[in-house]
Amino acid sequence: MKRIAIFASGSGSNAENIANYFKGSSEVEISLILANTPKAYVLERAKKLGIESVVVTNDEFRNADKVIDILKEKDIDFIVLAGFLLLVPAKLIAAYPGRIVNIHPALLPKHGGKGMYGDRVHEAVVAAGDTESGITIHLIDECYDRGTTFFQAMCPVLPTDTPHDVAEKVHALEYKHFPHVIEEILKTLK
Ligand code: GRF
Repeated sequence: MKRIAIFASGSGSNAENIANYFKGSSEVEISLILANTPKAYVLERAKKLGIESVVVTNDEFRNADKVIDILKEKDIDFIVLAGFLLLVPAKLIAAYPGRIVNIHPALLPKHGGKGMYGDRVHEAVVAAGDTESGITIHLIDECYDRGTTFFQAMCPVLPTDTPHDVAEKVHALEYKHFPHVIEEILKTLK
């Protein structure tokens, strides 16, 4: 059984979608949801899903020791960042090498980096006049939105699309692909 922790900062619709996908699986368990603010709606979702959750402060997250202790205590094998806004510290990456995956709501390397999250990404796509956007699922390293890309999926952006329209198309891609891609990555882990 692979034990997964999902980190999220906000709504957590991806976290819920992933949890539902693996519900009843004999291979994968969503064992923990970690948030960096008690206001994150993902905590309500965790409660409803019956998944243990934990909140850490931004300072605790940056320091990493407490988080690593929690993850080790829960026997976590793999970490999924699903709408998690803090930079993952090097110490945590070193504790889970090649075992932390992120989803970015655009086609990296375009529209990534510090400060590029949520609606800002879709606004940038529309402002740039891009004709397509999509999702990027990648391993993380010490820089925002870098690391080995595992998977991308695209959607068209029409000249009449608002950032909200783009967000809807991108969310649909996230829900469709993220759980499957996680499953594939987990199969490659020893
Ligand atoms: C998603 O678009 C994800 O790609 C991005 O933040 C958003 C989180 O949405 N990194 P939710 O919290 O899963 O609803």
